[in-house]
Amino acid sequence: MDTLLAKPVQEIPDGSLAALRRQARACHACPLWKRATQTVFGEGPERAALMLIGEQPGLQEDREGLPFVGPAGRVLDRALAEVGIDRGTLFLTNTVKHFKYEVRGTAKLHKRANAAEQAACRMWLAAELARVQPRLIVALGAMAAQTLFGNGFRITRDRGQWRDLDEHTQGMATWHPSAILRAPGDRRDVLYRELVEDLRSVARRKP
Ligand code: URA
Repeated sequence: MDTLLAKPVQEIPDGSLAALRRQARACHACPLWKRATQTVFGEGPERAALMLIGEQPGLQEDREGLPFVGPAGRVLDRALAEVGIDRGTLFLTNTVKHFKYEVRGTAKLHKRANAAEQAACRMWLAAELARVQPRLIVALGAMAAQTLFGNGFRITRDRGQWRDLDEHTQGMATWHPSAILRAPGDRRDVLYRELVEDLRSVARRKP
């Protein structure tokens, strides 16, 4: 399968998570560092059994330097609490480690990282995976899912299904909390229930 774990990733940076975090602070592999406040590296125990991968930091994450601390993080926290997963036990990170935005008046509006920016950042995600060696990986949204499982992955069709990534590791993808926040009316509740259902399946497998 065409997965991030199976693909040989060139130049995976070496060192402990703390050392990687320090190196990532100075990353200039794509231009996003120029306008972002800081690199938002992953957070969590060095040997977490479960890793959650989002897309890219938003405004709040850019300010605080931590993943999922804004509105999307609150949706995620609520869903994790519903299924009894303690956020402190998992490793939470993003596909892209810098905030990308456009300025509209006084606001900084989120802009999706392009394919080149995602590719430039892949070495950091690969390094996090190599250090943490989670047994379970959950991709939140299409960007993380396609990074993990390949471009053929379709979140609407394939979410909630476990796949073997290598002999020790299984992965699945589910809705990104921001997609839930953007969904209109009743659709928001449907997507949220599906996120919770998928996380319940994670909770059943998690040691
Ligand atoms: N959305 C993401 O994908 N990651 C974050 O850290 C915050 C919002």
